[in-house]
Amino acid sequence: MSEEVIIARESENLTGTVRASGAKNSALKLMAASLLGQGKSTIRNVPLISDIYIMGRVLEALDAQVTREDHVLTIDTTAVERYETPYELVSKMRASISVLGPLIGRFGCAHVAMPGGCQIGARRIDMHLVGLEQLGVHFEIDHGFLIATTPNGLHGGNITLEFPSVGATENTMMAAVTAEGHTTIDNAACEPEIEDLALMLNEMGAQIEGAGSSSITIEGVPLSALHPCDHATVGDRIEAGTFLVGGALLGGPVTVEGINPSYLRMALMKLRAMGCIVEEGEQSVTVRRDGPLRAVDIQTLPHPGFPTDLQAQFMLLASLAEGNSVITENVFENRFMFASELVRMGADVTIDDHHALVRGVKRLQGAPVVSTDLRAGGALVLAGMAAEGETIVRKISHIDRGYEDYVGKLTSLGGNVERTVVDDI
Ligand code: UD1
Repeated sequence: MSEEVIIARESENLTGTVRASGAKNSALKLMAASLLGQGKSTIRNVPLISDIYIMGRVLEALDAQVTREDHVLTIDTTAVERYETPYELVSKMRASISVLGPLIGRFGCAHVAMPGGCQIGARRIDMHLVGLEQLGVHFEIDHGFLIATTPNGLHGGNITLEFPSVGATENTMMAAVTAEGHTTIDNAACEPEIEDLALMLNEMGAQIEGAGSSSITIEGVPLSALHPCDHATVGDRIEAGTFLVGGALLGGPVTVEGINPSYLRMALMKLRAMGCIVEEGEQSVTVRRDGPLRAVDIQTLPHPGFPTDLQAQFMLLASLAEGNSVITENVFENRFMFASELVRMGADVTIDDHHALVRGVKRLQGAPVVSTDLRAGGALVLAGMAAEGETIVRKISHIDRGYEDYVGKLTSLGGNVERTVVDDI
């Protein structure tokens, strides 16, 4: 059996400038939101990654017409009359669940296959449902499908989320756009991608205030008041953070453009604490390191806390730092699978429940490794460039889900990486 892999070889340094793509976690929700503006919406700065392709298929299954030219997507939702999302697609990508809110907002009902668990934990959707129930949505489960109806219409409500869930905030916000009256979402997630989504919804005619803070208010408007729009996706702070870690790992300087540094505040603080020199521009960040990496303690938290999506990349940095670091994962219960791959490369990591003790080592060694999820995959390629010899990273479909032209961008920075097909591994 042959398999496409990424081979990363010990690289002297990464230097130069890369541009961050549009944020995956924003673009996916912007695509879902286009369901609310009946007509042809244009979304720009969309990353060329497989998750976007799957969301395109989700929308096509609803009879939307999706066309792409380079990084510009056009989504025509005029003919959308269906409100059912098949299991085949939801099982491929959990974020498909983000059509639930817009479908309810447009039709007052939705049939969406329930997402299963995924590799980084159980990832329930109970908070999505609790939020939507406050808006008058009734749910039943039928043979693996979530059947949403609004027997008494969709109305505003006061919602306090148990945890600032990104997906629950987004789904509730999108449904509330057409709910009659006033909605508040407290303990809302504050991620920049939520701000971006609210920006697009407002461009479509919604009335949302406070997105990006923990308290969002929405004044419902009739569906007929919503129209298509032309919106550019915010830059991907996680992709940007990954390249900055690459610079920190090998010395840099690496500059990432197309990203607002304030979206990476906590990660930049940790890079500085680890001994890196970080310069912030208006829409760019540069990192370089002259001295050794120093150990640091990190705990993942909802934004503006340290992002769970950069946890693996920073575990890699910690594994080559002087001293012991403790990394605590508070967002997902099972997100340390990466550690066992890193240990195969010579790292010293001990996991105790949701804490990882990382004792810095002097060198990593190249080895065959497997991407366990998207961000772990990205980190393993970086690890391979910092390790002696050659690292073969398998299951790179995980990387393709979220990093556009990862190998091309790393090569442009001087990384010794290639994508190739190997037989019988
Ligand atoms: C989004 C991002 C993901 C990121 C995560 C946290 C997308 C496509 N994905 O995922 O990259 O890692 O935010 O920043 O945008 N939870 C529940 N019940 C719920 C909802 C969530 O228990 O109803 C739990 C989850 O299992 C998880 C935690 O809350 O442990 C955070 O989840 P959430 O913020 O909802 O993440 P996602 O929106 O799935």
